[in-house]
Amino acid sequence: MYSEKVMDHFNNPRNMGEIENAKGIGTVGNAKCGDIMRMYLDIDDNGIIQDVKFKTFGCGAAIATSSMATELVKGKTVQEALLVTNKAVMDALDGLPPVKVHCSLLAEEAIHAALWDYAKKQGIEIEGLKEPVKDIEEIAAEEDE
Ligand code: FES
Repeated sequence: MYSEKVMDHFNNPRNMGEIENAKGIGTVGNAKCGDIMRMYLDIDDNGIIQDVKFKTFGCGAAIATSSMATELVKGKTVQEALLVTNKAVMDALDGLPPVKVHCSLLAEEAIHAALWDYAKKQGIEIEGLKEPVKDIEEIAAEEDE
């Protein structure tokens, strides 16, 4: 049911933990399943993501997608990180079962929320970044269609 890559990231999650004094922190939840994800970003003066960590009270797919998402945004610029969508994360994991697609949205939205927090603290605007939702059910419904 799950690809080898999903199982690998579930069993050995990359970048799990937290960053002290992170430049951006984002938390999102999914009211339907009750899962929560928090993402920490360390961003340097050039807008490059030097470090990223995550914590989750989430299902296995949420753990695997967050792990992969952190790998994909690390070393990228803030703008490039915006292109790491949940679909890009799922592709990198060789797919997810349809009922688990919404879990990958938690990872994407947590990154967006952390970027939003970073932009707010810096007093800047990140082009293309929309205010993140607190509960991904608001967007999961559209994605499932
Ligand atoms: Fe809640 Fe996967 S079931 S995030």
